[in-house]
Amino acid sequence: MEFKGKNVIITGGSSGIGKSAAKIFATKGSNVTILARREEILKEAVEEISSSAIEANQKISYASIDVSDRMQVDKWAHVYEDASGPPDVIINSAGIAHPGYFEEIPYEIFDQLMKIDFYGVLNMCKSFIPMMKAKGGHIVNISSIAGFLGVFGYTGYSAAKFAVFGFSQALRSEMKKYNITISVLCPPDTDTPQLEMENKIKPKETKAIAGNAGIMSPDDVAKAMIDGMIKKKFIIVPGFNGKLVLCASRWAPSLVEWVMDRNIKKVE
Ligand SMILES: NC(=O)c1ccc[n+]([C@@H]2O[C@H](COP(=O)([O-])OP(=O)(O)OC[C@H]3O[C@@H](n4cnc5c(N)ncnc54)[C@H](OP(=O)(O)O)[C@@H]3O)[C@@H](O)[C@H]2O)c1
Repeated sequence: MEFKGKNVIITGGSSGIGKSAAKIFATKGSNVTILARREEILKEAVEEISSSAIEANQKISYASIDVSDRMQVDKWAHVYEDASGPPDVIINSAGIAHPGYFEEIPYEIFDQLMKIDFYGVLNMCKSFIPMMKAKGGHIVNISSIAGFLGVFGYTGYSAAKFAVFGFSQALRSEMKKYNITISVLCPPDTDTPQLEMENKIKPKETKAIAGNAGIMSPDDVAKAMIDGMIKKKFIIVPGFNGKLVLCASRWAPSLVEWVMDRNIKKVE
C-alpha cells in the first residue's frame, strides 16, 4: 500500500498511539489531519508531526472535535470533504480508559466510555463511509486486548472495546464490496498518557494480571499497526505477548481464566 499523497485522518492524533501513527504517516508523505478536543495539545502535536514530513507541500493539520458528538463529527466531515475530498485512511484512536471495581465505577463513567470509545468510532464511520465508498480506503478502529478478553477491573472499558471489535468485524464484511478495508487494532499496555492515568487508579488485581504481559512503546504499536495495514490484516495485535493472549483466549479460554484467577488470588 502506497501512503504518499494519501489523505489520512487520525482521531486522538494529538497523543500516544495516534500521534506516533501520525508521525509515521508523515514520514511516508501522507497529508495528515489529527482530531482531538484540547486545542493547545493539538497545535503542539501538529508542530511535532510536521517535522517528520518529507515533502514541502504535505498538509499537516488539526481540528478540535469531540468524536462522541455525532453532529460535530458530521458537520466537520462535510467541511473536510469540501476542502480535501474523501479521506483514504481513517485511524480511530481517540479513547479513554477508567479501570476500577465494577461496584465503584459510577454509571456516568460507563456512559462516557461507550460514548467516546464506541460511539466515537461509530460516528466517524457513519459520517465518512458514504463519501469513501466511491474510491475505497482503509479504516482502523483501535480496540484493545481487553476488547477480546474480559479483564478484572475493566467492566466499562472491556464493554466499550468489545463493542468496537464486534462492530468492526461486522463492518469488515459489509465494506468489502466497496474496497474499504476494515482493521481492528488490539494493543497491549502501551506507554502513553492513558496508561499513566490508568495506573493511578487500577485495582491491584488488574495490575497483577497486566504485569505479566509487559509494556510496548506507542511508536512500536503504531509501526505494527501500519505493517498490519499493508498486509490488509483484519485483527492486528502488536507484540508477541499480545498474539499469545489472542491465541490462548481463542483455543484455551479455560486456561486463560485459570491463569488470571491464579494471579488475582495471589494479591487478594
Ligand atoms: N495505552 C494503552 O495501554 C492502550 C492499550 C490498548 C488500547 N488503547 C487504546 O488506544 C487508543 C489510543 O490510546 P492512547 O494510550 O494513545 O491514549 P492517549 O495518549 O491518552 O490519547 C488519547 C487521545 O484521544 C483523544 N480523545 C479522548 N477523548 C476524545 C474525544 N471525546 N474526542 C476526540 N478526541 C478524544 C485525546 O485528546 P483530548 O483529550 O484532547 O480529546 C488524545 O489525543 C485508545 O482508544 C485506547 O483505548 C490504549
